[in-house]
Amino acid sequence: MLTMTQLKDRSLLGLKDLGRDEIESILNRAAYWEAQHEKLVQVLASKFVANMFFENSTRTRFSFEMAEKRLGAQVLNFTAAASSVEKGESIYDTVRTLESMGIDAGVIRLKPAGVLEELSSKISVPLINAGDGNNEHPTQALLDLYTMKKRFGSLQGLTVSIIGDIKHSRVARSDLWALRKFGAEVKFCAPNNMTAPELEPFARYVTMEEALRSDVVMMLRVQLERHATGMLKSAEEYRAQYGLTEERASKLSKHTLIMHPAPVNRNVEIDDAVVESEQSAIFPQMSNGVPIRMAVMERAMK
Ligand code: CP
Repeated sequence: MLTMTQLKDRSLLGLKDLGRDEIESILNRAAYWEAQHEKLVQVLASKFVANMFFENSTRTRFSFEMAEKRLGAQVLNFTAAASSVEKGESIYDTVRTLESMGIDAGVIRLKPAGVLEELSSKISVPLINAGDGNNEHPTQALLDLYTMKKRFGSLQGLTVSIIGDIKHSRVARSDLWALRKFGAEVKFCAPNNMTAPELEPFARYVTMEEALRSDVVMMLRVQLERHATGMLKSAEEYRAQYGLTEERASKLSKHTLIMHPAPVNRNVEIDDAVVESEQSAIFPQMSNGVPIRMAVMERAMK
């Protein structure tokens, strides 16, 4: 049985309250894992982990599974649609059920924001946040920082523009909290109805023109599934005002790194050709997600 302190140290609920040293240690360990040639190591042999996704996912779910399997863990995959959640079972009862069966850690993605903290206080295995509502997506931000660090060497003094649907973005929040700890400047650019006023003390809202004059330009997906009706009037209009079009991308400084957490609405927030361009780190971000999640799962269970 883990103590409360061990449980807290092994869990990863968000980056807002995680220390800079702790983040740095995860990034360094990810670099270690990336440098390993062996695809499979038995660091977590005999450990069982449940990936519990109450909301859809491709990248996060599969890169956690890849990371866990590469470390030799036994992996249980839970998806809400194929479970007793469909019969009305609660998130708490579902997690307690898997805990009762003997898992050593749980990876969890939830639709609502703000319930993970309480859930983790009632569960006695480490929980890893794989995205909760618009609150945090810590492993996405860790892989984002890792990608920026690989490209620029240091995060100190970097200018990072996050453009698009800030209001609904857990990625924007986790990146904001983490980047500030490393001395990077985060700027936001968003349509008026997609801003997050509570974040204004931490990041300036700037014009598209200014946003594009940055070391990193991070485009966000327009999260239609979280919108009230009528928030996005037209995809064409959005692309014209806030999209990273081929024309805008051609005017970026050559050193600017283009990022996007994906999934991408191609030709809405970012043009097709820009996704695949040399300046784009979108697919490398996905590759970097595996060593980051190896470091996070090792920290949770070793
Ligand atoms: N970036 C991200 O969280 O992607 P998924 O929703 O596919 O996991």
